[in-house]
Amino acid sequence: MAFLFAISKCLLFLVVLLLHASAAIAAAALDNSTDLPSLLAFKAASTGGGGAASNNIIAVNWTTDAPFCTWVGVGCSRQYPPRVVSLNLSSLSLQGTISPRLSNLSFLSSLDLSNNSLSGTIPDTLGRLPRLATLLLSRNLLSGLIPPSIVNMSSLVSIRLSHNHLSGSLPALVLLPRIEKIGIGSNLLTGHIPVGLARCSILQKIYLSINKLTGSVPSSLGNLSELVVLSLGRNQFTGAIPASIGNLTRLQYLYLGFNHLKGEISMEMGNLVNLQELHLHDNGIVGSIPILLCNASKMIVLEVSTNNLIGPVPATLGKSMPFLRRLFMAENALSGGIDFIASLANCKDLNFFEVITNQFEGVLPDAYGNLSMNLQYFHVSLNHISGRIPAGLGNLSNLISLELASNELRGTIPRTLWRLKKLQVMYLGSNRLTGSIPSDIGLMTNWATISFTDNEFSGQIPDSLGNISRLQKLDLAENKLSSSIPLSLWNLT
Ligand SMILES: *[C@@H]1O[C@H](CO)[C@@H](O)[C@H](O)[C@H]1NC(C)=O
Ligand SMILES: *[C@@H]1O[C@H](CO)[C@@H](O)[C@H](O)[C@H]1NC(C)=O
Ligand SMILES: *[C@@H]1O[C@H](CO)[C@@H](O)[C@H](O)[C@H]1NC(C)=O
Ligand SMILES: *[C@@H]1O[C@H](CO)[C@@H](O)[C@H](O)[C@H]1NC(C)=O
Ligand SMILES: *[C@@H]1O[C@H](CO)[C@@H](O)[C@H](O)[C@H]1NC(C)=O
Ligand SMILES: *[C@@H]1O[C@H](CO)[C@@H](O)[C@H](O)[C@H]1NC(C)=O
Ligand SMILES: *[C@@H]1O[C@H](CO)[C@@H](O)[C@H](O)[C@H]1NC(C)=O
Ligand SMILES: *[C@@H]1O[C@H](CO)[C@@H](O)[C@H](O)[C@H]1NC(C)=O
Ligand SMILES: *[C@@H]1O[C@H](CO)[C@@H](O)[C@H](O)[C@H]1NC(C)=O
Ligand SMILES: *[C@@H]1O[C@H](CO)[C@@H](O)[C@H](O)[C@H]1NC(C)=O
Ligand SMILES: *[C@@H]1O[C@H](CO)[C@@H](O)[C@H](O)[C@H]1NC(C)=O
Ligand SMILES: *[C@@H]1O[C@H](CO)[C@@H](O)[C@H](O)[C@H]1NC(C)=O
Repeated sequence: MAFLFAISKCLLFLVVLLLHASAAIAAAALDNSTDLPSLLAFKAASTGGGGAASNNIIAVNWTTDAPFCTWVGVGCSRQYPPRVVSLNLSSLSLQGTISPRLSNLSFLSSLDLSNNSLSGTIPDTLGRLPRLATLLLSRNLLSGLIPPSIVNMSSLVSIRLSHNHLSGSLPALVLLPRIEKIGIGSNLLTGHIPVGLARCSILQKIYLSINKLTGSVPSSLGNLSELVVLSLGRNQFTGAIPASIGNLTRLQYLYLGFNHLKGEISMEMGNLVNLQELHLHDNGIVGSIPILLCNASKMIVLEVSTNNLIGPVPATLGKSMPFLRRLFMAENALSGGIDFIASLANCKDLNFFEVITNQFEGVLPDAYGNLSMNLQYFHVSLNHISGRIPAGLGNLSNLISLELASNELRGTIPRTLWRLKKLQVMYLGSNRLTGSIPSDIGLMTNWATISFTDNEFSGQIPDSLGNISRLQKLDLAENKLSSSIPLSLWNLT
């Protein structure tokens, strides 16, 4: 009896086991049969019904002759039966639209359709993909709204929709606890930055530049302590840069250029010791450049051009920023001695130096130290610089462009400048330079633009100008030159 009972128990167990197995198989078949039609629906929509099919790889490759897990761009899970977990079809010239039926790929965790020509809207049904962690749709022709359902993608870590034609406002992404990267630059977004953005507490990168966003830069952004990149440039933001930004001590890249920002650069910015790029250009920022900004010893690009900044450049700027590559301060009302350049001697990577249209005065230093290694652009036109052109400029052997125009420079052009064999552009106009134009000028075979206009140069126009075969623009007007125009000039094609 006990034996029979044991047997029946065993049978029962087997039956249960079989039932389980067949249920599993049934469920599995159902699962993988939902992925296939979704993929086929995607294919049909993104090949625009076949017209563009011939140059589109998925039109050829995605055929039911082979299991979909072997199709180009399709990644499957290892479980049995396999489910689609990733779709990477970036840069495949896809056209047409994104099928809303993609939302039936319920195991999808990564969708990369970037750099195609997909148009239409982003289907709101994507909000039904609870596992989606990566959504990359940048560089397409997508229009319409950012789907409101995005707030339901609770697994989302990275979303990139930049370089599309998306309009409307930015959804409040408060419910995305895992979001680390938001890239929606180069679209047509309007409205304000939602305050709730500051509650996505592990955000590391925000790219919203090149849109039509308005309102102020919310001070609550100062709560995003993990932020490394904050890119809000080329929008229509108003108000001051909130002091709370100074709490973002991990920030490496801050781009606020091309907005309507006012107010001063706050002292708190001095806490941003990890900044590598600071772009505040083309705003209405007032006040002076705070000395505390020199705390940013990792700075590579500092761009404050086209504002209303006044006062001197902190003397320690160059010393404290040894990695500086590009320094743009043009179009402000900065003043003080131009000799602060000497303090940049430490910056051996400095490549671009531009302070055009300010009120710097004094004389140019003669020694440029380590600047000689990489400096290619030296632009100091439209200031009040006096004295002579220093011979030491001839040591900046990599110089491509030298702009000293509209200052109060006197004396002759030092011969050392003819050593600058890479020079292509030289603006010396509107100074009080004297002497003759030496025939050595013909050795400057890379020159494209020469402007010596509005000075007191005298003597002959050298014949050797005809040897500067790349010359495109030559301006010698308003001088005291006396000679015929050399025939060699007509050789310049
Ligand atoms: C997607 O799933 C829904 C049910 O959840 C079903 O009605 C629809 O037909 C499915 N679409 C595809 C393409 O499988
Ligand atoms: C296309 O699909 C087949 C499966 O039929 C696969 O083996 C092949 O490598 C795929 N890729 C390309 C680029 O054709
Ligand atoms: C769907 O699953 C079945 C097994 O249930 C498998 O034989 C088949 O290859 C799968 N289909 C695809 C397209 O992967
Ligand atoms: C998609 O593939 C491209 C190149 O094939 C790669 O660069 C990119 O990182 C992939 N996308 C994802 C999300 O892995
Ligand atoms: C975009 O795709 C094209 C080919 O369609 C490729 O040449 C280009 O390098 C891709 N650009 C990016 C940024 O991936
Ligand atoms: C988010 O999901 C819930 C539950 O499925 C749904 O009721 C709601 O409409 C969704 N929200 C959006 C904005 O789609
Ligand atoms: C930012 O943090 C402060 C406290 O430090 C808090 O009062 C405020 O509500 C936070 N703002 C947001 C938008 O989370
Ligand atoms: C920066 O953070 C500290 C500590 O969380 C807070 O007390 C302070 O108010 C914040 N500063 C600004 C300007 O928001
Ligand atoms: C910034 O530099 C000043 C001195 O110039 C110093 O007192 C301050 O502690 C520095 N701040 C940080 C965050 O390093
Ligand atoms: C130039 O660089 C060297 C080492 O890179 C450094 O020792 C020297 O002090 C620098 N010169 C100037 C003038 O800063
Ligand atoms: C220019 O460089 C030469 C050698 O490279 C050096 O002897 C001279 O002192 C430098 N002149 C100036 C003004 O720095
Ligand atoms: C122009 O260059 C040629 C060849 O290099 C040279 O012979 C000639 O003297 C030069 N002409 C002038 C006017 O410098």
